[in-house]
Amino acid sequence: MSQRMSNVPLIGKPVERVDGRLKVTGGARYAAEFKHTGMTYGALVMSTIANGRIKGIDSKDAERAPGVLAVITHLNAPRLRFPERRVGMDPRLVDDHVAPLVGQSLPVLQGPTIYFNSQPVAVVVAETLEQAEYATTLVKVTYGEEKPITSVEAEMARAFPPQEGLGKDPQTGRQPDRAADVVRGDPQALSKAEVVVDETYTIPIEHHNPMELLSTIAEWKGGKLTVHDKTQWVPNVQGYLAIVFGLPEEDVHVISPFVGGAFGSSLRPWSHPVVAAMAARVVKRPVKLVVTRKQMFSSHGHRPYTVQRVALGAGKDGRLTAIVHEGYAQTSLYEENTENLVNVGRMLYASPNCITKYRLVRGNVQTPLYMRAPGECSGVFALDSAMDELAYKLKIDPLELRIRNHADSDPYSGLPWSSKSLLECYKQGAEKFGWARRTIEPRSMRDGHYLIGWGMSTGTYPTWRAPSSARARIFSDGTAVVQSSASDMGPGTWTTMKIIGAEALAMDLSQVRSELGDSTLPKAAVHGGSMTTASVGSAVYEAGLAARAKLLALVNTDSRSPLRGTSAEQVDFANGRIFLKTDPSRGETYSDILRRNRLESIEATVDSKPGAESEKFSMHAFAAHFVEVRVDSELGVLRVSRTVSACGGGRIINEQTARSQISGAVVGGLGMALTEETVMDHRMGRIVNSSLAEYHVPVNADIPKIEAFFVQERDDKVNPLGAKGIGEVGYVGVASAVANAVFHATGKRVRKLPITLDKLL
Ligand code: MOS
Repeated sequence: MSQRMSNVPLIGKPVERVDGRLKVTGGARYAAEFKHTGMTYGALVMSTIANGRIKGIDSKDAERAPGVLAVITHLNAPRLRFPERRVGMDPRLVDDHVAPLVGQSLPVLQGPTIYFNSQPVAVVVAETLEQAEYATTLVKVTYGEEKPITSVEAEMARAFPPQEGLGKDPQTGRQPDRAADVVRGDPQALSKAEVVVDETYTIPIEHHNPMELLSTIAEWKGGKLTVHDKTQWVPNVQGYLAIVFGLPEEDVHVISPFVGGAFGSSLRPWSHPVVAAMAARVVKRPVKLVVTRKQMFSSHGHRPYTVQRVALGAGKDGRLTAIVHEGYAQTSLYEENTENLVNVGRMLYASPNCITKYRLVRGNVQTPLYMRAPGECSGVFALDSAMDELAYKLKIDPLELRIRNHADSDPYSGLPWSSKSLLECYKQGAEKFGWARRTIEPRSMRDGHYLIGWGMSTGTYPTWRAPSSARARIFSDGTAVVQSSASDMGPGTWTTMKIIGAEALAMDLSQVRSELGDSTLPKAAVHGGSMTTASVGSAVYEAGLAARAKLLALVNTDSRSPLRGTSAEQVDFANGRIFLKTDPSRGETYSDILRRNRLESIEATVDSKPGAESEKFSMHAFAAHFVEVRVDSELGVLRVSRTVSACGGGRIINEQTARSQISGAVVGGLGMALTEETVMDHRMGRIVNSSLAEYHVPVNADIPKIEAFFVQERDDKVNPLGAKGIGEVGYVGVASAVANAVFHATGKRVRKLPITLDKLL
């Protein structure tokens, strides 16, 4: 075998997705694609009112329809346990760890109360999907209807502070800061400022709309439950179903090898795995339940409707003297969903004085949840639109204004940054974009009858890390596998874990496999919050190091080994071989060691968790986004013609998939800016555009040239890999950069998303 003198790092090289071929050839199996003998099919009946009670359900005709095995409603459903969550509660008793800290998951088919429109009221199970769907049309439900509340503006007077902001986080013992009111410095600073911008920004409900629908196949065998489920968090679905069905965790097996996009929609288990498992128990056969595209608009949460006030006070020199960031967000009747909406007001720019306030408003809606860089994305749209407005008021270049207000340490926590390359992102992004050629006046750049606008914005996203476990196993044939129950919804986790595994094991990339997405594998953190590499990656890395250390322990006391008597400091690992640093010819391969010891494999499982570093440093990824728009001066038709995004994300594990994460995020940000809006009919409390024909996600024709790149950044504080989260930082700031470019082009400030042409005429 070839002898590499030292281990050449794999991390950072561009590597193609290991699952790419499987995905394009149909070889990757998604939750609904698994085959079971005796499969039956579920179809949901949804409420046609948004508020009130079911008075009666007549399912006789449906039960008699061809192929129907069962019609399950709250009148005959098995009784299940949906525990309530309260502030200060022991997190081990919580039914769902990405659920809001206050409330109770929708107790599906457990009672007559209707909380929102298109809430499941029955499930029909039949021999075929067509039979089940037909029979749903025969279920007759009568309601006692009350007037629904769905408008945030109409409810603002009844807004309330989230309970979680009033209590202490049971895990950290601290007040959860995102929900609490915060005042820094002089609360009267705004009224003393030389220049003030004070505006309101509105973001509609948006739905994730991933390609893959919510799907579960549930099967019971001997009191044990197996589910193939689309999820971003395998162990959470396992734990949730165990609590709801009163089972020991090990009696629930969750399988989820591939996820066809999710963007946050599958962070929580929602109702469908519960309904599928309940139905499978009733009919005593496997049940497949796939939520339809239309039902997706009420079957999982959404980006909540938010109204934000941002007030900025500054001196004539452009330095901020006051930031006021208030956010109002809608939640459901039965849970208090919160997100990091106003946190960016506290930390993104330096200001001695700052006030943030966060309020919730109830509505007859499904509980919202994280969507594509949840709170930061919404918060920065407001904050960085306001910064742009301030720049025009002060007649300072918008980029220069941001540089002048750069925060050299975290203004909120007072902690130093673990690393921050934002100034470098501004610089390199501006150079690549050609920002210096921008003229400052609105409507001052033209190309024929097109108005050209250049806008920019800052992006930021916290670097999280959560406990995760992983196993590394080296086989005597010279191959290895790294394993964790993590999901991969598309960013490339299958590939990244293989790279990290190969690096830690000092083996050739082609000899190492990854295995993910099964609850029998070591427990992984949620595949969300851009923390999979930091959390699961760190566990895989540590497991790899632990496995190779076990090999070394086998040889240094072995008289048959050329490495006997050597210590860890004297040896090096490369190419699946241990050798003496001073004499690389003296050594042996992993497979030689295992074979001589008659071992088929050697393995190490590691529980990895964050240390105290997050108490000492503030950890965030940062980005700078630059956008060009072209607006037809007569028709108002708006096109984004190019974007440049520069990101600082710490160590980049796989340049290729990392860049594609940022470009994908920019696409999502353009959707938020220009097309995406869930439209509610407040009279009915009903979503009127619940289809891909009427909810407009960006398509290829909407997407311009996207340039995304990473600035060099080293961070030895965040985690053992030095990798920050890089998925979501790509979204944050895109919508504000577009809105700012639109103002530059047209002189019209659009403060309510999406920026559709009617708002420009
Ligand atoms: Mo993400 S919105 O945490 O899946």
